[in-house]
Amino acid sequence: MTPTTGQRLIDRFHVEMGGWPTWLVRAPGRVNLIGEHTDYNDGFVLPMAIEQATWIALRPDDSPHLTLHSLDFDQRWRAPLDQLALASPKPSGSAPSWNEYVRGVAWALHAEGYPLRGWRGLLSGELPMGAGLSSSASLEIAIACAFAVVAGVPWAPIRMAQIAQRAENQWVGVNSGIMDPLASASGRAGHALLIDCRSLDIVAVPLPPATTVVVMDTTTRRGLVDSAYNARRAQCADAAARFGVAALREVSVARFEAEAPRLAPTTRRRARHVVTENARTVAASEAMRRGEAVALGRLMNESHRSLRDDFEVSSEALDRMVALAQADSACYGARMTGAGFGGCAVALVAQASASAFCARVAARYQAATGQTPQLIPCQPAQGAQAIALAP
Ligand code: GLA
Repeated sequence: MTPTTGQRLIDRFHVEMGGWPTWLVRAPGRVNLIGEHTDYNDGFVLPMAIEQATWIALRPDDSPHLTLHSLDFDQRWRAPLDQLALASPKPSGSAPSWNEYVRGVAWALHAEGYPLRGWRGLLSGELPMGAGLSSSASLEIAIACAFAVVAGVPWAPIRMAQIAQRAENQWVGVNSGIMDPLASASGRAGHALLIDCRSLDIVAVPLPPATTVVVMDTTTRRGLVDSAYNARRAQCADAAARFGVAALREVSVARFEAEAPRLAPTTRRRARHVVTENARTVAASEAMRRGEAVALGRLMNESHRSLRDDFEVSSEALDRMVALAQADSACYGARMTGAGFGGCAVALVAQASASAFCARVAARYQAATGQTPQLIPCQPAQGAQAIALAP
């Protein structure tokens, strides 16, 4: 059965673009179970792709143009391919419009030697923006997947994730790591992905039996571009330099403890988060392989404490949501997820009680804050794909 957003796009394509689409592309968002702010330290992350995705219905075009209509913004945008290929990145630092992500991917594909061919597409996303569920990476991966299928280029998830990251870093101007595009490009149904962000080796690990992952959206939002994200990256690079290594990934917990007293207090706390989070992430993947929900949950709780106290990227809303989730009897563990400063938290809960957990925690959060949160049980989903549509 074709999912609702995909079917809606296929039907609307006829009205908006004329004719029928020949491909339906979907690229999922992701929720990170553990391993936060470790990707740009060459460390380990453990995200899973989720069913909510960015969708594009498209048809190749004989004309050397990209014509894209965004249903969410009700905007149409058309650009000649040579202009897209040869433009130069000029990140403005302000919130980019949706088509800047498209331009960035087209530019990065061309810069990496991929052919660009024309197509017409209708676009819609199911992911809230700025919530920590990778709406921008899912848009970038959807665009890369569309260009690849139109040019007959076989899908290469790691290469395409690197291209999306280049677009995000150099075109959009956010220094984000590889986790989000890689999770969107290479997700595996039923599994989270242990990603070594240095070697880019990926190992799929199943969720513990009888558990459900719940995304808990505080509905508070952060702006990644002007946030403290780039500042945290710089602090980590500084800490690595003080240890005399290329990235904090190379520092073990034992070495950190031995040398930590020599570091300035802020540098010490930032480094402690990254070094211990890497160890927790590897331990979490091992707990998952053994099917141990309790051990995984405990590591998630420790991760939140470290992000809150040492890395200082949580927020009042996230702390409250996490505390309410952790106090619930169905919950194994909970933490903020994504860059932080607002957006979503994630909880591991007993499958049989997942809906009751969502109702209880939502009601308690609302009673405490007056805000209505969104709690969504999520299945680990397949990564990006282009589905051929029957003529
Ligand atoms: C954002 C970035 C990722 C990663 C997380 C924090 O989602 O895009 O690369 O750094 O923050 O773990």
